[in-house]
Amino acid sequence: MTAPFYITTPIYYVNARPHLGHAYTTIIADVATRFHSMRRTDTFFLTGTDEHGDKILQAAEKEGLKPKQYVDKISALFRDLWPELNIANSDFIRTTDPAHKAVVKQILTRIHAAGDIYFSEYEGLYCFGCERFYTERELVDGKCPDHEVEPKVIKEANYFFKMSRYQDWLIDHVKRHPDFIRPERYRNEVLAFLKEPLEDLCISRPKSRISWGITLPFDPDYVTYVWFDALLNYVSALDYPEGEKFKRFWPGAQHIVAKGIRKPHGIYWPIMLIAAGIPIYQHLNVHGYWNIDQSKMSKSLGNVVEPLELKNVYGLDAFRFFLLRDMVFGLDSNFNQEALVQRINSDLANDLGNLVSRVLSMARKYFKGVVPEPDAGLLDAGWMDLKAVAAKTIDRFDQQMQAFTFHKGILSIWNFIGQMNKIIDTAAPWQLAKDSEHEAELRTVIYNLLEGLRIVSGLIYPVMPDSAKKIQVQLGLDPQAPFYFLNRLMQWGRLQPGTSLPKFKPLFPRIESIPEAPKQADASTGDASQPAAKPLISIDDFAKLDLKIATIVAAEAVPKSKKLLKIEIDMGERRTIVSGIAESYRPDEIVGKQVVVVANLKPVKLMGITSQGMLLSADTDSGFCLLTPDKGTAPGAAIS
Ligand code: MSP
Repeated sequence: MTAPFYITTPIYYVNARPHLGHAYTTIIADVATRFHSMRRTDTFFLTGTDEHGDKILQAAEKEGLKPKQYVDKISALFRDLWPELNIANSDFIRTTDPAHKAVVKQILTRIHAAGDIYFSEYEGLYCFGCERFYTERELVDGKCPDHEVEPKVIKEANYFFKMSRYQDWLIDHVKRHPDFIRPERYRNEVLAFLKEPLEDLCISRPKSRISWGITLPFDPDYVTYVWFDALLNYVSALDYPEGEKFKRFWPGAQHIVAKGIRKPHGIYWPIMLIAAGIPIYQHLNVHGYWNIDQSKMSKSLGNVVEPLELKNVYGLDAFRFFLLRDMVFGLDSNFNQEALVQRINSDLANDLGNLVSRVLSMARKYFKGVVPEPDAGLLDAGWMDLKAVAAKTIDRFDQQMQAFTFHKGILSIWNFIGQMNKIIDTAAPWQLAKDSEHEAELRTVIYNLLEGLRIVSGLIYPVMPDSAKKIQVQLGLDPQAPFYFLNRLMQWGRLQPGTSLPKFKPLFPRIESIPEAPKQADASTGDASQPAAKPLISIDDFAKLDLKIATIVAAEAVPKSKKLLKIEIDMGERRTIVSGIAESYRPDEIVGKQVVVVANLKPVKLMGITSQGMLLSADTDSGFCLLTPDKGTAPGAAIS
């Protein structure tokens, strides 16, 4: 057993629903935890929600709810999402938990008594999104680089934490521990921040302005929230100071955050720890942002990606795999469904799926679905040997996963898969099977390939736990056993000759075209070939539709799609609609036409373009036929 492993995600603000970015961080933490359980390490994985502060209060007011009612509602959305994504967190902390608040008060009391907190008037540039003051130098074009808004000037008497006192200590700590903040680019950035004199941290707000926080133990007129509240969740969740969990897991603490909050985690947090007399965490792992079509995900742009929709359309393991494989940990990545489909088809359906199906169908064909006995002499002679390649692969995988270079860990598995596919082509079992003289060779190569699949299923376990178990079942093994322990994967030959292999089921079907609208989980039943008799509706149901006349002002084909046209319409206001009529109309023949539009359809993204409505058309034997008014009508005219 190695030293216990403790991993945390940021605790997420409850002013918005969980999206792809939150899912990514939490999946990464899950993968890291599962990987450490492969090393038989004792693990603890913490996530949760950050529930105090101005913007949460504002969000609650907007919904007409009391703050506690509101935070309960949104926090539950996060808590309930994680099991759906096969995320096995050990605990879920909320900053409104009484035990957490007690720890915050206890630590504040200690730091205050030590003289590291003082009261003073301050005027500065405050970003409400980040809940912190910015220096002029940190702003880009006068705006917060993360939220792209101009900070507000705030002048207030508040309590401050003397961070400046620990600046030299922190510089020394970061320098002496090269992988304290990783990847290196973020370590360098933190060192660059530390070249400037560190400003003290404002840790309070007067209750006269906002009371949705934790009352300061030394001043009942003030609350603390966000950084001096939120960061402490990492120790309060372990029952700091006396808890068993704290003693066991804190020495192995690692955090995961996106680059937007590297400064609070790389600077405020270690300084808070040293001031409170708590040992410093081991690693801060910083990743980049998922952008959508090159821009930041945001509610106002309407491009927020819902993780559950992707899971429902593509399958959970494929979704998890894509996130881990396509993002270089530390750098930004652009999310689009085309890349996701391509990845599923090439890496999962072609490479892995084909390998599993080829090996299992050969085992069925040549050995009636029973694991053959390899020839000891041939094995000793290293004939078509996979054993050495497997050992090297496991070793490399182990190092990459420990270093948080997940895409490289996955690449080493895929190199191994490539080697196995090559062995099949070189050994050509179908040739060996033709001649009984080669019977021992055939047994040995098929045994080795099956054994190779056992290793692959163990290695993919952290990223694709369900698929790993499915491969175990296909190999006649117990999916509930800890088949993924690295020491078991290292022992070549654990697969017992004579084991029966069950009937083969394909793992990852190819995706032929990008689904046009993500399917909801409950929409997949019923026979789609039969037009359903639709239920009667009332006039009120009909009135929910906002139907309008519009004029088509521009149209063009959507690249890489046979069916879709991107259409600009004028319906009093300009809108973009993506319509599946490309096989019935050329773009130039519809410009100028008047059409009927469903104006209040929820926007959806089709091939990366947001479609804000739908054109009505009849579906005829010769294709689609657009509905148009029978005389010229003003754009925007309502239809009833
Ligand atoms: N509440 C603070 C964190 C306090 S931790 C003591 C906060 N919350 S947040 O809701 O804004 O979540 C930020 C985190 O969500 C990021 O650090 C990252 O983990 C994740 N992501 C949010 N948007 C993201 C992307 N677009 N891409 C990748 N991860 C993103 O900050």
